[in-house]
Amino acid sequence: MSNDLEFKELKLFKKGKVRDVYDLGEHLLMVATDRISCFDFILPTPIPDKGKILTQVSLFWFSFLKDTVENHLVPMSLDNLPVSAEDKDKLKGRFMIAKKCEVIPFECVVRGYLSGSGWKEYKDKQSVCGLDLPAGLEESSKLSEPIFTPATKAEEGHDENISFDYMKNSIGEELANKIRDTSIAIYNKAADYAATKGVIIADTKFEFGMYNGKFILIDEVLTPDSSRFWPKDDYQPGRSQASFDKQFVRDYLDASGWDKVPPVPVLPDTVVSKTQEKYKQVLKILTGEDFA
Ligand SMILES: Nc1ncnc2c1ncn2[C@@H]1O[C@H](COP(=O)(O)OP(=O)(O)OP(=O)(O)O)[C@@H](O)[C@H]1O
Ligand SMILES: [Mg+2]
Repeated sequence: MSNDLEFKELKLFKKGKVRDVYDLGEHLLMVATDRISCFDFILPTPIPDKGKILTQVSLFWFSFLKDTVENHLVPMSLDNLPVSAEDKDKLKGRFMIAKKCEVIPFECVVRGYLSGSGWKEYKDKQSVCGLDLPAGLEESSKLSEPIFTPATKAEEGHDENISFDYMKNSIGEELANKIRDTSIAIYNKAADYAATKGVIIADTKFEFGMYNGKFILIDEVLTPDSSRFWPKDDYQPGRSQASFDKQFVRDYLDASGWDKVPPVPVLPDTVVSKTQEKYKQVLKILTGEDFA
């Protein structure tokens, strides 16, 4: 499959790095493509079925979390969509119909462990997003409690870590507090569950939107694209971890000597199939479901 799926009958609302969003009037149609992004670049090579796997994982978590947080899903089948039979076939397994929300323009990151940009900042300043942390932590250390470390949603380029105060100033203290508390609550609930499956959720990113005056969980949730999942068995602080997410692709790109300036290298078949395998594996482990 190519990186692009096209639905000519539908009106494009927004094209993200991974998802294409179409305007259905009252609702949105979110289509998870097989595109993969790394370091905020879309790779030229798709990972077959990745969009379906992400959709299946998200649907599992939205349902798992429904008593903790309201979400954007609208239970509607493909039958009601104004698309051809051929297009319905292309959409199967990779779409969600969603409430059209005003996106709250922050990536709501929760970290239970020190990794990625959090680890980088800690090494420099002993803080993450301006939150001071105790001395002596190592790469991948478990934090004494999960922390909320928001980032901006950059229209272009890299999302930037910001302080919680910055978020409060931008959307108001009350809403910011509620979003922080909800993010931590859903992280805790999901992390406790994942632990019973032998998976550590090192960190994850949520998005929220306003709908009818309330904030609700939108986008994708707790997928290998939005989270670092580590196998509990191999966990050892003081180094980076083997992981179920696109770390494998990041490692390949790092090792390739690519200078992070386009064009982005094509992935070899072995990296593609290994990545697909990882995504399917985490689907099975977390949800107990086989790839549908
Ligand atoms: N219910 C919703 N209502 C409105 N917009 C939504 C909803 N759910 C998700 N979105 C938006 O749809 C887009 C999904 O695309 P994708 O995740 O591929 O984007 P992205 O490249 O990560 O870009 P962004 O930084 O804008 O999230 C995102 O911009 C997300 O904020
Ligand atoms: Mg996104």
